[in-house]
Amino acid sequence: FDGQAFRNDFINWYYHQKRDLPWRRTEDPYHIWVSEIMLQQTQVDTVIPYFKHFMNHYPTVYELAHADQQDVLKAWEGLGYYSRARNLHDAVKEVVSTYDGQVPSDKKELKKLKGVGSYTQGAILSIAFNQPEPAVDGNVMRVMSRILEIDEDIAKPKTKTVFEDIIREIISEEDPSAFNQGLMELGALICQPKNPKCDQCPVQSHCQAYAKGVQTELPIKTKA
Ligand code: ADE
Repeated sequence: FDGQAFRNDFINWYYHQKRDLPWRRTEDPYHIWVSEIMLQQTQVDTVIPYFKHFMNHYPTVYELAHADQQDVLKAWEGLGYYSRARNLHDAVKEVVSTYDGQVPSDKKELKKLKGVGSYTQGAILSIAFNQPEPAVDGNVMRVMSRILEIDEDIAKPKTKTVFEDIIREIISEEDPSAFNQGLMELGALICQPKNPKCDQCPVQSHCQAYAKGVQTELPIKTKA
């Protein structure tokens, strides 16, 4: 596996094919944070209007920190998984009180915030702060399990750290944001769970599952 050739083909494809999404028009770490929380359990198309509405109501951490919880939950209404909104609200208050309104760019500090797990931490560090950190969710595990023909069971919580370690090895140091968002984009547009569009895949020549014809057998996931 040629990591350099993979990164080149992959990042080049991302810049040509990426969707124009509202959170890709900003470099504000708070905006990117909100988008990544919304996107964790909700589809892109559903998130778009909520994200725009939320950012209009709460354009900076200060408006959100000073808002009433009931109003924040109201703005979240329809997205579901309301603990995401409550945790985000609490965490943003913490950013105002402890970090002078600046979203921390330090890995350990970021992880201390409510609702920020390893995925969100990596997404914020890579997309907002250009740090070469993995942001691994189910889609990323599917894509990477195919490219590198990894047969670890993605239903096991520990498997995520396997993928995080692998991505740390191959992530672009120059453009970790494009690398991580490219994995999300490839998973959404090409490397889908069923009927992946391998004939349109920009990294088909790097894909070990495709070479063996086992792409639809991966990832391995034991429980439903
Ligand atoms: N899913 C999770 N994060 C995303 C992002 N930044 N762009 C598109 N889809 C995503």
